[in-house]
Amino acid sequence: MPHKPFKAVIPAAGLGTRFLPATKAMPKEMLPVVDKPAIQYVVEEATAAGIDDVLIIIGRNKNNLSNHFDSVPELENNLRKKGDEDKLAKVQQSSDLADIHFVRQGEPKGLGHAVLRARAHVGDHPFAVMLGDDLIDERDPLLTTMLSEYDKRGATVIALMEVDPEHIHLYGVATVEATDTDDVVRVTGLVEKPKREDAPSNLAIIGRYVLDPSVFDILERTEPGKGGEIQLTDALEELAADPEGPGVYGVVFRGRRYDTGDRVDYIKAIVQLAADREDLGPDLRPWFKEFAATL
Ligand code: G1P
Repeated sequence: MPHKPFKAVIPAAGLGTRFLPATKAMPKEMLPVVDKPAIQYVVEEATAAGIDDVLIIIGRNKNNLSNHFDSVPELENNLRKKGDEDKLAKVQQSSDLADIHFVRQGEPKGLGHAVLRARAHVGDHPFAVMLGDDLIDERDPLLTTMLSEYDKRGATVIALMEVDPEHIHLYGVATVEATDTDDVVRVTGLVEKPKREDAPSNLAIIGRYVLDPSVFDILERTEPGKGGEIQLTDALEELAADPEGPGVYGVVFRGRRYDTGDRVDYIKAIVQLAADREDLGPDLRPWFKEFAATL
């Protein structure tokens, strides 16, 4: 039986302590990447893949997030009166994107716990989980590939990327086997944030998942793992290890990904994206070269 259209779930309830004081009164997902909050890129990625129902799991400071996806009549009227259609379109873009819902995580008990909060909204249907720390370039449509792999295999699909061994301890890491499709692998094991010497491969989970709803039952009983948190990786390891189940597959992504998870990567992401933009790149690129020469 065909499943209902995919919904997307975006966990945005982290404390964002790496970006204090900017995140004192604002979720880190609202930090601007060039001129858009990080979370808007993620919602746009979902809609580009055909998803128009998005659930955001929120922590404190909910208002910033919900206001961003709401209309602002005062500002819109002001821009309309001035005839500034260009800015008006920018304001309206985020409120017209998708049907956005919010649910509170309550206590921040980890990514697995955040995903479990989506159960009532998602129901018994497959769904996408998208983490705001990873931005995927719109020219490299990863999520679309993952959704069609889900439909082909009827099994959970995660996004994997080769990373330098020195960074592997920051990620969930997969043990994999080849399939008959290039860059699609079967995941046989997963471990959350191993030490470099214990990592089973250099294939890291990047923040895109298409999950079978059977993950909810597993998450209900998943004990706290790494860092004392309920880890999504641990629940997926159980799905991958179940010989009776459909298993877990990985799509190996070789496109452009921008990490906004810590300050250095965040600055790099802004520089890369701005340099590529038609409206900003021509002014910025020569300046980057001059600036680099002074270092
Ligand atoms: C989370 C996941 C981890 C994954 C990473 C991708 O970790 O727990 O498995 O590799 O996202 O960004 P976090 O970065 O939230 O600590």
